[in-house]
Amino acid sequence: MRHDPLHQPIATASAPGKFILHGEHAVVYGVPAIACPVAGVSATAHVYPKETPGIVVDAIDLNAQIRTQTDLDHPLSLATNNLLAQLGISPPPGLTIKLQSTIPIAAGLGSGASITTALIRALAQALGKQLTNATVSDLVFEIEKLFHGTPSGIDNTVVAYAQPVWFIRDQELIPLKTKTPFHILIGDTGIASETVTAVAGVRQRFDANPDQYQAYFDAIAALAHNAREIIETGNPAELGLLFNENHRLLQRIGVSNAELDTLVNAAKNAGALGAKLSGGGLGGNMIALVTADKIEPVTQALQAAGATRVIHTQVQ
Ligand code: PMV
Repeated sequence: MRHDPLHQPIATASAPGKFILHGEHAVVYGVPAIACPVAGVSATAHVYPKETPGIVVDAIDLNAQIRTQTDLDHPLSLATNNLLAQLGISPPPGLTIKLQSTIPIAAGLGSGASITTALIRALAQALGKQLTNATVSDLVFEIEKLFHGTPSGIDNTVVAYAQPVWFIRDQELIPLKTKTPFHILIGDTGIASETVTAVAGVRQRFDANPDQYQAYFDAIAALAHNAREIIETGNPAELGLLFNENHRLLQRIGVSNAELDTLVNAAKNAGALGAKLSGGGLGGNMIALVTADKIEPVTQALQAAGATRVIHTQVQ
């Protein structure tokens, strides 16, 4: 068989999905948050040589071919062109970047950040350049702003570093060392999570009632500190009560909905140690903390309660 270099990738990179364990929404107001990668779902970019100049991004799941020199407004063009500018590469070489992802879109699982991370890493590798996690995270943050307006930066950080992180807005992240691995089930309501709408709603209610909302955020901060200590030094089963308490606070700040509450209750009734919504809310995903023997029954209970997808992940 003839060896055809145009059909061999010259570089490949993957990035995980993510979920937020504690601190969504409050993180926008400077409260610490904990986020973890989800290894079971990921985005992958393969880079192939192309005979004609210019970079084309083939977003296979979106059925879109983006010409990064002419489709200038496309977020993936911006990601590509920002990287080339940072590396001082002009004109762009002839390359095709094929992107594929198994991460559900608009589900609070970091699909956008993951796709952009995979693209940037694979392209840098194809150009013979090494990027630090911090540089990747900064480049992805620029693209996140196009989608989320004023994101805290938590998605790009956890996805670029691909490890559990302690994150405070505008501060250097702290990687978390998990003393004992623990199991998380991620249940999808099947309803698109409108993060921008949810964040704007919280802002409106915060402005109308700052003292009350500050008290909610302070309570969420205390839960995050508690959770960090348990993850680093203690018994992860104790995280369950913190999940339940965090979910109640997220209900109060108005980002849960009937479907999320139904899945949270179904998980707890089936033996989860605790459960909460995760991410922007008003749809999207919830998470449940489970022991190994409860993975199966809680998965079934979530499905019976309407979850359109359940992902199992281990935090380690
Ligand atoms: O991308 P999501 O849906 O996981 O939401 C991000 C978390 C928020 O705190 C709601 C927003 C942000 O920018 O941190």
